Amino acid sequence: MPREGAPPPPTRVLSGIQPTGRFHWGNYFGAIRQYIDLQSAGESYYFIADLHALTTVRDPARLRALVHDAAVDLVALGLDPAVATLFVQSDVPEVTELTWLLMTVTPMGLLERCHAYKDKKARGLSADAGLFTYPVLMSADILAYDATVVPVGEDQVQHIEVCRDLAGTFNHLYGEVFTLPAPRLVEGGARVPGTDGQKMSKSYDNTLEVFEDPAAQRKKIMRIPTDSRPMDAPKDPADDSLYALFALVAPEAERQRMADLYRRGGFGYGEVKKALAEAAADFFAAARARRAQLEADPAAVEQILADGARRARARAAQVLERARRACGLTRSAAGGPRT
Ligand code: TRP
Repeated sequence: MPREGAPPPPTRVLSGIQPTGRFHWGNYFGAIRQYIDLQSAGESYYFIADLHALTTVRDPARLRALVHDAAVDLVALGLDPAVATLFVQSDVPEVTELTWLLMTVTPMGLLERCHAYKDKKARGLSADAGLFTYPVLMSADILAYDATVVPVGEDQVQHIEVCRDLAGTFNHLYGEVFTLPAPRLVEGGARVPGTDGQKMSKSYDNTLEVFEDPAAQRKKIMRIPTDSRPMDAPKDPADDSLYALFALVAPEAERQRMADLYRRGGFGYGEVKKALAEAAADFFAAARARRAQLEADPAAVEQILADGARRARARAAQVLERARRACGLTRSAAGGPRT
């Protein structure tokens, strides 16, 4: 409990993003946009979770390319390295050491209940220890930076609970070492329908990518299957996934106009699709231009990541030292820093 009159703890935002390939609208409107919006809420840390990706990506060249591309995409989409610390998870080895310290206070049963592992087991697949202990690495990610706010999607809330649990146990055993984070479910995270009306997801092959070439995207949009209700019947924009997609990228006035058109009826879906393709191209035009610049200068991107790693390490080293000292891993009585 904070003492009365004590200043509120500083807001420190942190989130990790797995480099799994090109971001689609579901990733962007459902999560990444909200993460980026939080960058100036306080000190903020965003990292590309390459160590977590190792549990699924087993091709070194591909992993390297995915990490670089994720950095390019995030900066192009507005993550400002002058405001936020952007880095690659594996550039901070302190986190892996911290993972071990946390592992020693992690009950097996807690991890057995975690869904990534449980789901894989349930499907009769064999899981490796990396997947099993995934939530412990994620906990170390969060605790290493004294993060107070961790914006995540629904599927990661359980992992934040694990983190709080482990931090609480460690603190109980060794004193107040770790700051307990609060999950922040991404607010205003849109449910984005895919081109088939189901939730947009890479596994359903129904995505629109953020940085898809506009002409190719337009073709994809024109092929979206639509229902066969008569053209002039009035329709409710709220239950049409084309409209939902349009509403994500169109300016307010356009949205209004389109919603009225739906309610009046007498229009063709072809018109909506054309408007959608145009609005999408406009919406992402500035990010696309920034992306092209960054792609042309890979050294600048690597420099951003190197600066980020330096800043991130400086904080993680302090937290790790606190944890090492607390559990007796330093031999000097004063618990001085390692030499
Ligand atoms: N597991 C997260 C995901 O798949 C990524 C992640 C790794 C993360 N470490 C994190 C998110 C720490 C928030 C905080 O989306």
